Amino acid sequence: MQSIIDEIARDMMAIENKGEVASYIPQLAKVDPNQFAISVALTNGEVYQAGCADTLFSIQSISKVFTLTLALGKLGDNIWHRVGREPSGDPFNSIVQLEHEHGKPRNPFINAGAITIADLIMQGHAPKEVLAEILHFIRYVADDDSIAIDEKVAHSELKTGARNASLAHFMASFGHFENPVEKVLGTYFHHCSIAMNTTNLAKAGLFLANNGVNPVTGYTVVSAQRAKRINALMLMCGHYDGSGEFAFRVGLPGKSGVGGGILAVAPGKASIGVWSPGLDKIGNSKLGTMALELLANKTGWSIF
Ligand code: DON
Repeated sequence: MQSIIDEIARDMMAIENKGEVASYIPQLAKVDPNQFAISVALTNGEVYQAGCADTLFSIQSISKVFTLTLALGKLGDNIWHRVGREPSGDPFNSIVQLEHEHGKPRNPFINAGAITIADLIMQGHAPKEVLAEILHFIRYVADDDSIAIDEKVAHSELKTGARNASLAHFMASFGHFENPVEKVLGTYFHHCSIAMNTTNLAKAGLFLANNGVNPVTGYTVVSAQRAKRINALMLMCGHYDGSGEFAFRVGLPGKSGVGGGILAVAPGKASIGVWSPGLDKIGNSKLGTMALELLANKTGWSIF
């Protein structure tokens, strides 16, 4: 495994056009695009890493996997009254379907869906308390107590979050929200601003690769059925309007973030964190996707 990912990291660093870093969140625009990292956590507990696997980056939408898991833990299948389970085929921050679909987002991974999930997990609590719970959960699954929110990124998102605020207010106009919109947005922006490295991510996804049980600690995080379902959603919706292309090229459940990270799950085998901040046109990591495609080819891990 080490030689496979060393070779992938070398190949990725040799590519000149590494994509464009996200610029709509000013703090993310400052990140050097010339970086690549990959970490592979096997279900037998071994962890392999290559590139700058200790460098922290903004996990952005990858956080939506963890907030969805938390929401399912708190409310079970009741969440599906508020959010759907279908791919949207539209960009991550699109508002267009909400009007025809009564303010119910297509899935928990588009921005509107994740904002809804934030509302669901708040249950009247202050953003600070809810964020502490989200962080606690991520630290627990990643087995790293130092994971924290990057306040500069959160501030940057808040200042430039007009689109997300529009989505939230539009959904609230259907009478769906249980908490004040500003507080829900504050929670959402802050959980997107959590900073992790690829090894954190790989370890955090292990429960999804191992039927809901963290194979290292032996703790059951979710039931086997729930792990399967979260993986199904990641496969169908984890890359927005690029989900079909990702399934075609990589063949693994995956969740991307505009910080350039991707968490991919090879059920029964491994959890993989990749990061390279340059994005493709859809907003998914360009080299991250290429690296996962190479890894899936070399290991035969595609689920198909
Ligand atoms: O709300 C946003 O726009 C960001 N906090 C997250 C978007 C994101 O990561 C989309 N992923 N590719």
